Amino acid sequence: MSTHNPSSSNAYDVLADVVRARRTSMVVDPDREVDDATVDALCELAMWAPNHKRTWPWRFTHLRGEARRRFGEAAAADLAAAGTADDAKIAKTRTKYLRTPSVLVVGCAAHEHPTFHEENRDAVSAGVQNLLLGATARGLASFWSTAPMMSGAHSLEVCGFAPDDRIIAVIYLGYATAETSRDAERPPAAVRHLTT
Ligand SMILES: Cc1cc2nc3c(=O)[nH]c(=O)nc-3n(C[C@H](O)[C@H](O)[C@H](O)COP(=O)(O)O)c2cc1C
Repeated sequence: MSTHNPSSSNAYDVLADVVRARRTSMVVDPDREVDDATVDALCELAMWAPNHKRTWPWRFTHLRGEARRRFGEAAAADLAAAGTADDAKIAKTRTKYLRTPSVLVVGCAAHEHPTFHEENRDAVSAGVQNLLLGATARGLASFWSTAPMMSGAHSLEVCGFAPDDRIIAVIYLGYATAETSRDAERPPAAVRHLTT
């Protein structure tokens, strides 16, 4: 078995810096595309997340150009099909994915075993964090949003996902034009260390 330890003694500091620098943001250059190779690299990072039973549950669809509008239309159709009465929300959904040059939809495969079904979602979420940190390290602003309908048939279809997949994250991506706020926004971690 090969082992790998980050050799640099400051690996923790570098990682901690990226972790703290990641902020939810869509303050991006609207004219600078995120190329497919960059998104591929981020998705590859996602797949290094822990994954019980090695089910490889991640599903990725990268939306650029008019595909973003198609996804918005599909999400709006899902909201309408679900009986949403909020017309303003449906109208906003149609165009909101145009706000950044790229939108990455991350889905999660279903599993017949209820525990593994939930664990699949946990693995996908852990992968999303890898991806967001990679984006931060590459100078991209990122914004994890929840899909209007995580199991909406129209949305799943546009992404090429299976009908029983779930959409875990709709991630807005673009090159950051402003440094995101690095204020201390977190309460201190309350940790119990129990020994007996
Ligand atoms: C599972 C998940 C879903 C989220 N969905 C939304 C969303 O739909 N809309 C939104 O404005 N932010 C969403 N966020 C982003 C959070 O609002 C954001 O992480 C939080 O405000 C903390 O800010 P920070 O990410 O800059 O630390 C989501 C975050 C997670 C983890």
